[in-house]
Amino acid sequence: MERLDKIISNMGYGSRKDVKKIIKDGRVKVDGEVVKDNNKQLDPQKSKIIVNGEEISYKKYIYLMMNKPDGVISATSDDYDKTVIDLLEVEDQVFEPFPIGRLDKDTVGLLFLTNDGDFNHRLISPKWHVDKVYYAKIDKDVTSEDVVAFKEGIVLDDGYKCMSAKLEVLNNSKEGSEVKVTVREGKYHQVKRMFEAQGKKVVYLKRISFAGIKLDENLEEGEYRELTEDEMKAIKQKIKMQ
Ligand code: URA
Repeated sequence: MERLDKIISNMGYGSRKDVKKIIKDGRVKVDGEVVKDNNKQLDPQKSKIIVNGEEISYKKYIYLMMNKPDGVISATSDDYDKTVIDLLEVEDQVFEPFPIGRLDKDTVGLLFLTNDGDFNHRLISPKWHVDKVYYAKIDKDVTSEDVVAFKEGIVLDDGYKCMSAKLEVLNNSKEGSEVKVTVREGKYHQVKRMFEAQGKKVVYLKRISFAGIKLDENLEEGEYRELTEDEMKAIKQKIKMQ
């Protein structure tokens, strides 16, 4: 059961305040009756809701893919900085989504957002072995010893031994290396700390894939879109979710 104003707001009819007015004005019918009580509890899957003469098709959850820009925090609110939620349109914010896992303020690339707690939990749990793939620029040459160390499990500064990770060197030059790293955990600053353990520094970090889904190249930094049905199907299969 959910509140009438929340249901309608979630369907993109404006903020909770806008929706209260729509309800008060008698523009909402539930199962054929005008309802003016915005607190009314109902099951949106079972009731027929009409707003401004138009039947609404209810959606409870939202699943988004964002290309996170530099300088933005992966959180729902922050006292100083812009958050990824601030980048969303109001009609998406009304679903109250949150980021799935965190990217550092200076990390860019693929971030999922949802309001589905179960989906979030499964994607961040190491139990489901969800791969996260990063493209990184490193200040020094990355060697085959580094590749082996990543495979065997890097020990971080706090003594934690990481799960085996795949490190591929894409390019070595005087300025350092470009690499691709695949990890299955999401420890705080994990990729940066893994390289620090090898005496090297990550100077640029971008997540390019998560749970087998690649960042849509058509998304500029700061842009986002809903995950497609095919993408959702592929992810849910991976995390054994109905
Ligand atoms: N590892 C990091 O160090 N930072 C991120 O943002 C993600 C993974």
